[in-house]
Amino acid sequence: MKPISVLFVCLGNICRSPLAEAAFRREAQGAGLDIAIDSAGTGDWHVGKPPDPRARAEAMRHGIDISSYRARQVNLQDFGRFSHILAADHQNLADLRAMAPPDGEAALSLLLDHVEGLEGQAVADPYFGEEDGFAETWQQVSLAAQALARKFGVQER
Ligand code: 4NP
Repeated sequence: MKPISVLFVCLGNICRSPLAEAAFRREAQGAGLDIAIDSAGTGDWHVGKPPDPRARAEAMRHGIDISSYRARQVNLQDFGRFSHILAADHQNLADLRAMAPPDGEAALSLLLDHVEGLEGQAVADPYFGEEDGFAETWQQVSLAAQALARKFGVQER
């Protein structure tokens, strides 16, 4: 079986998926999991840019510096490189399904499908809102990060 490797995907790769990546990196490290982790966007508007300043501030509130992250767009190779691709919302998931090659091995799902009680829900998109929206996003992605670390921790053993 392919080693577990995880790609978090949102639209711009500057708000939700970098926060999910940061939260999951922390959980995976804490759980001693050796997992390849990355994030990407379905869109290309922000490619090469660091995360949104409000996302960077939110991560810093949790002691994580994501200022070195750079946005990139999802590509076809990602479907072979990653065992799991986790979409922030339903549109991201639909876009991923539409571009997935027939032989793509990655399992596609909504990020919050992995959180008991939040199945089928989208991660709140804070981009067009106020700074406090990022706190809600953080809450959601950290719940998902914890759930994924538990799940993959059990699978790796
Ligand atoms: P993200 O947020 O998908 O969580 O990174 C957004 C970033 C940029 C845009 C929308 C959402 N935008 O329209 O440029």
